[in-house]
Amino acid sequence: MASERTFVAIKPDGVQRGLVGEILARFERKGFKLIALKQLTPSRELAEKHYGVHRDRPFFSGLVDFITSGPVVVMVWEGDGVIASARRLIGATKPLEAEPGTIRGDLAVNIGRNVIHGSDGPDTALFEIDLWFESAELNVWIPSDQRWRVE
Ligand code: RTP
Ligand code: MG
Repeated sequence: MASERTFVAIKPDGVQRGLVGEILARFERKGFKLIALKQLTPSRELAEKHYGVHRDRPFFSGLVDFITSGPVVVMVWEGDGVIASARRLIGATKPLEAEPGTIRGDLAVNIGRNVIHGSDGPDTALFEIDLWFESAELNVWIPSDQRWRVE
């Protein structure tokens, strides 16, 4: 499986609830490599671009209101199959339907407060990484335990 990158964001509810460390730990423990990490309160323009695919949905303005309501913690993770794997770690969009053991399954109940976002495919991942990060913010590095990892 090819190494790839994905974009993950801890939404304002995850930050306000003090879940940043808990969520970062799950991706670290899984074995993915952290390429970029920062906290910011998104502008409306940024949030609308990020969720542009949902522009015509009834929940769009409420979603943008929520995402711009306070700081989010955004990150890029790298690894084999990380795009689909991150979505599995995150769990179903509706937290009450998300499996226990997933982030939403363990930490959320409400679809409008589902704690975390992850890119849903390779094209989306490229678009979202480019939208949220400057290329200089992406750190190319080799973990010191790399030689013990399976290629
Ligand atoms: P996300 O983009 O945030 O990672 O979530 P997702 O892929 O699991 O779900 P998506 O269909 O992309 O929906 C984006 C976010 O919009 C909110 N939503 N509300 N009220 C509703 O019916 C509804 N549907 C979606 C959720 O917060 C969802 O995460
Ligand atoms: Mg989505």
